Amino acid sequence: MKVIVFGGDGYLGWPLSLRLASRGHEVLIVDNLFTRRAVTEVGSDSAFPLPLPDKRVENAKKESDVEVSFQTGDVRDYEFVEDMIREFKPDAVVDFAEQRSAPYSMIDVYHAVHTVENNVRGTINLIYAISKVNPDIHFLKMGTMGEYGTPSYPILESPEVEVEIKGKKGEVMFPKKGGSYYHWSKVFDTYLLYWSLKDLNVLSRVTDIMQGPVYGTRTEEIKSEGVRTRFDFDEVWGTVVNRFCVEAVLGMPLTPYGKGEQRRGFLSLEDSMRALTALLENPPEGYRVVNQIHEVYSVNQIAEMVKKAGEDLGMSVEIEHVKNPRVEAEQHEYDVESKVLPSLGATPVKKMQDEVKFMIEDLLPYKDRLSRYKGAILPRTDWRKGR
Ligand SMILES: NC(=O)c1ccc[n+]([C@@H]2O[C@H](COP(=O)([O-])OP(=O)(O)OC[C@H]3O[C@@H](n4cnc5c(N)ncnc54)[C@H](O)[C@@H]3O)[C@@H](O)[C@H]2O)c1
Repeated sequence: MKVIVFGGDGYLGWPLSLRLASRGHEVLIVDNLFTRRAVTEVGSDSAFPLPLPDKRVENAKKESDVEVSFQTGDVRDYEFVEDMIREFKPDAVVDFAEQRSAPYSMIDVYHAVHTVENNVRGTINLIYAISKVNPDIHFLKMGTMGEYGTPSYPILESPEVEVEIKGKKGEVMFPKKGGSYYHWSKVFDTYLLYWSLKDLNVLSRVTDIMQGPVYGTRTEEIKSEGVRTRFDFDEVWGTVVNRFCVEAVLGMPLTPYGKGEQRRGFLSLEDSMRALTALLENPPEGYRVVNQIHEVYSVNQIAEMVKKAGEDLGMSVEIEHVKNPRVEAEQHEYDVESKVLPSLGATPVKKMQDEVKFMIEDLLPYKDRLSRYKGAILPRTDWRKGR
């Protein structure tokens, strides 16, 4: 299979590119290196130093015996996107090329507008380019579980749901409720993909993934420093498990926001790679929505797990709740249906309680580097006041 991974320089895109290439697929990575710059903008950096793209590709060949190609470019540039798809002739296009931080989108009006413009424009460009070059291409788009919000009803893995209004029945798209400009941009992506396939009929295979937060440092292909994927831990770019592990390494208290009873569905980096590979190797006919989560935990449970892992490694770890800068329900239902991935045999192989220990071990040699960015870890981006 030939695959273009838009956003392949990122946390998920790089290991996915390595995984696909190691399974014999031909992979072209396209990225404008936005995340590298935007993380610096908020006074932080990846925990692991990142080689420049050419060097990364060279290291992948040398250290993991995996061959990928890299093209710098912006998914917002329509002519460029169409040229890439026309020339490479992919069977599948993966779209990770989005601004992916909810706090970043809440910094101020400019960051909010950038997020929505970057994400939605990229999606529209890809819809047009695929439909023009070859509508049979499988378009695998990464959304987020955050598109659903935290409803009181079960979150079905279904594009539509039946409603009854004033005695009349009909189908609507499954309800969505974003919690930041970032999440709303993803909701809009989903509407556009569904409509492009179901009503416009210009696409024929779409996988729209609602993924939970991913944690971890390792995959089967990432065994040495030169091929590591980026790892963010600051308040803007770091997801909760990754951030807690760095706090533990730096001897800082772990900081659940508010009551810490927010529950989410998580998955390890390795399990995310297995799931994405299974979805790409088994393309759908039509539109497929996938809830990609494995373990549901509250933020407090995660803090306890990281604390225990740190203590097992001889560290002293405290937990200190801080004021929640976000606008979100701190106590809520979380009942998520997940049938597609098990039906493809993509069952999880990692458990958070084991992985957090490996993560702390992998991060410890970088303690000095991490301590340079200590000031970027505690929350500063308030959902109502910005930064
Ligand atoms: N990491 C998670 O826990 C998680 C959870 C749910 C969903 N997602 C989604 O998965 C996707 C990948 O996430 P990630 O964690 O790897 O993020 P990331 O920021 O590490 O990777 C995204 C990549 O896209 C690139 N990019 C952004 N805008 C671009 C543009 N206009 N043109 C070309 N490249 C562009 C960035 O430079 C970056 O390398 C995102 O869509 C994100 O919203 C991630």
